[in-house]
Amino acid sequence: MTQTRDSETAAGTPKREMRLTLKIWRQPNHDAPGKIHTYEVDDISEDMSFLEMLDVLNEQLNAAGEEPIAFDSDCREGICGQCGLMIDGEAHGPEVTTTCQLHMRSFKDGDTITVEPWRADAFPVVKDLVVDRGAFDRIIQQGGYVSVNTGAAPDAHATPVPKDKADRAFDVATCIGCGACVAACPNGSASLFLGAKITHLGELPQGQAERDTRVVNMIGQHDHEGFGGCTNIGECTAACPKGIPLDVISRLNWDLHAALRHGH
Ligand code: SF4
Ligand code: FES
Repeated sequence: MTQTRDSETAAGTPKREMRLTLKIWRQPNHDAPGKIHTYEVDDISEDMSFLEMLDVLNEQLNAAGEEPIAFDSDCREGICGQCGLMIDGEAHGPEVTTTCQLHMRSFKDGDTITVEPWRADAFPVVKDLVVDRGAFDRIIQQGGYVSVNTGAAPDAHATPVPKDKADRAFDVATCIGCGACVAACPNGSASLFLGAKITHLGELPQGQAERDTRVVNMIGQHDHEGFGGCTNIGECTAACPKGIPLDVISRLNWDLHAALRHGH
């Protein structure tokens, strides 16, 4: 009887199972040199996520007594921003989504896939595919908040927000801080991330108190961390899994100029 690489779904539709060659960046720690290692994985279902495929490889490595590959993930639902990988040179891989929401049906049997960590000076490699994105946290600490009176929650309608501004704020608030924009940018700039945060809070009445200091301090921290400047290439927005538009960077520049005019 002929062996096939396909299994059957309950409905009788053949399901593809794949054998893949993985070229994966291994680096023991930040100070040690890294290099690409080659692995073979078998029986990968097209319904697996990319991270589940890496889980299968790690089970294989564990069984063989080898060190499993370190990579980040948390929610595995596309909302926490932990899981970024460069896959065949593209941030989060061939689809516009997070790595955890990328499925193996985007690849085919026999493919060779290269997997690397985010490449940016401001995101140093911790181990293998894990990078330190603490620079984003330090940028947020510089102004990614609003001043509020503590105490009982105010009535929902106490501070009216026009619908177009609320919609815009909500849309850009979907930025999950994954860092794909930085990894995709030839300059290693975090301007799309910054623009999303500045626009989110700048659209809302509650965000006006710190509007000038926010933009000055967050950009200052961005530059201090070693992120590059924006030269309007647009790779950031093309890679962004949340569709953050490029015009948030115009808003960022607009707010910075306004703050400088106000003497900050
Ligand atoms: S702007 Fe997009 S790509 Fe950049 S951190 Fe936010 S969600 Fe990720
Ligand atoms: S693991 Fe949370 S967004 Fe991918």
